[in-house]
This record gives sequence, structure tokens and C-alpha cells, in this order.
Amino acid sequence: MQKVGIIGVGKIGGSLLVRLAESGDFDLSASDVHRDQLTVYEKAGVHTTTSNLEVAQRSDLVFVAVKPWDVGSVMGEISPALGPDTGKAVASVAAGVTIANISDRLPPGTAVLRVMPNVCASVGLGSAVVTANEPGREMLGDVVGIFRHVGDVMELPERLFDAATALHGSGPAYVALFADALIQAGVRQGIPRDIARRLVVETIGGTAVLLKDRSAHQVRDEVMTPGGTTAAAFVAMEKAGFVGAIHDGVEAATEQARGLGG
Ligand SMILES: NC(=O)c1ccc[n+]([C@@H]2O[C@H](COP(=O)([O-])OP(=O)(O)OC[C@H]3O[C@@H](n4cnc5c(N)ncnc54)[C@H](OP(=O)(O)O)[C@@H]3O)[C@@H](O)[C@H]2O)c1
Repeated sequence: MQKVGIIGVGKIGGSLLVRLAESGDFDLSASDVHRDQLTVYEKAGVHTTTSNLEVAQRSDLVFVAVKPWDVGSVMGEISPALGPDTGKAVASVAAGVTIANISDRLPPGTAVLRVMPNVCASVGLGSAVVTANEPGREMLGDVVGIFRHVGDVMELPERLFDAATALHGSGPAYVALFADALIQAGVRQGIPRDIARRLVVETIGGTAVLLKDRSAHQVRDEVMTPGGTTAAAFVAMEKAGFVGAIHDGVEAATEQARGLGG
């Protein structure tokens, strides 16, 4: 059984831990500064502790799922358990913290990976990208296999990680913003709020399924009758700068991710 550790059982670490525990395929350890957040996982057979070093000592693969500004101190704590001769690897899910930032805190030659997931992992429908330094490449397959438990996983070069963070890491929040705007627009046109909400949620879910095997343009063209309602909406939305606002938002998020490494 592969020994996997998770440091930080918040939104991302907790989601991953739940699914890995359900699979029964891993020997799991987890730590967090909040003892009370760990108790729920004990019942699922996870070894829990407030010592990050203990998690690193017990695991072959350690996921660090704390906020970007906490990654440096966590790496410092677990460093004594890591190194090229230990056979262990560490994988960070933090936005903006590069493999070089992480490696600076660890013994030279340590296997280091980065994963950028998103919060849809909590319902098993996440998407994630993964990359590794040279010593970590051996573990890429294992990390991909682990993140498959919470959704789709692809390899991506590290130079594109800040853009991916902006695209799908923050992506669920953009979709939620769009959903809220669409619900409010329906309410403004007189549709009862609960009905508007159901219609919008099903529309977004159904469109996501359509987009699995059709291009965005195909879906648009199927809906947009020449001279019809959708065409009128597109002109009005474009005049208001809809597409440009999305480009600007993703660019701003990419720049913000670049600044998080410290
Ligand atoms: N949330 C997202 O949508 C998302 C998407 C993609 C990537 N990420 C990345 O995933 C990482 C985790 O994000 P999250 O949203 O899951 O954060 P979160 O919900 O705040 O979870 C992090 C957990 O780790 C705890 N923690 C803080 N310092 C610690 C330490 N030194 N040792 C052990 N545990 C510690 C936190 O406690 P406190 O609350 O007291 O700090 C919290 O319980 C971030 O680096 C983020 O960039 C997040």
C-alpha cells in the first residue's frame, strides 16, 4: 500500500483525503494546525497528527496543501525527513510557489512536484495539472493516479502553471460569478428566484456535458438562430465588453499568481 501524507486538510487537502480514504488503496497520514479538523478523518482510518514532520516521516509521497505563504515554513519543518536517498517525494498544490522556491528549503536533489487542482475536486469533478523536477519525474504517474480520484489530470510545463492557476484554479469562482449574474438577470425579467436558480444551474451543468465532445463554437451555433434572441444577446454582451473582461480577469489572476511565490 502506498504511503501518502497530506499536510493541511482544508478545502483542497480535505477533499483529496476523503476520496483517497474512500478508495481504501492508501496508507494515509494527515496533519493540520487545527486538531479538531482532523478528527473526522480518524474514523476513516487516517493516521492524524499536528506534526507535519511526522506525516513526512510516515509517507512516501507528501502533499502540502496549505496557503502559499505557509509553504516555506512547512517545507522547513519536513526537510529533515526528505532528500534524494529517502525515496520520498513532496508535492505542493499551492498557487504561485515554484519548484525552485520549494527546492531551496529542502535537501538538494529532493523529488519535488507541483499540482494545480481546483475546488471541484470536492465533488470528484476537479481538474488538475501536474509537473515535476528531474528527480520527481519518477513519481509523476503516482501523483496523476492519486489526483484521478478527484477528477481529470494532465501534465503541463511549469512555465504555464500561473496561467493554469488563473484559468481553472480560480475558474469555479468565475463560473459562480456568471451563474449569479445570470440568475439576477432572470429575476430582473420577472422569473421567481428559485426557478431562475434551478434553470441556471441545469443550464451550466448541461452545457458542460455538451462541451465534452463539441467545440464552444458548435454549441453557440446550435443555439444561435440567425436573427434570433441569442444573436441579440451576443451583440449586447459584446458591446458591454464580456469577452474582454474575461481576458483581463485571467491576465490579472496570472499576474497575481506570479507574485505569490515570495
Ligand atoms: N481553494 C481553492 O479553490 C484552490 C484551488 C487551487 C489551488 N489551491 C491551493 O491549495 C492550497 C490550499 O488551499 P485551501 O483553499 O485548501 O486552503 P485552506 O482551506 O485554508 O486549507 C489549509 C489548511 O492548512 C492549515 N494550515 C495552515 N498552516 C499550516 C501549517 N503550518 N501546518 C499544517 N496545516 C496548516 C490551515 O489552517 P488555517 O486556516 O488556520 O490557516 C487550513 O486548515 C493553497 O496553497 C492554494 O493556493 C486552492
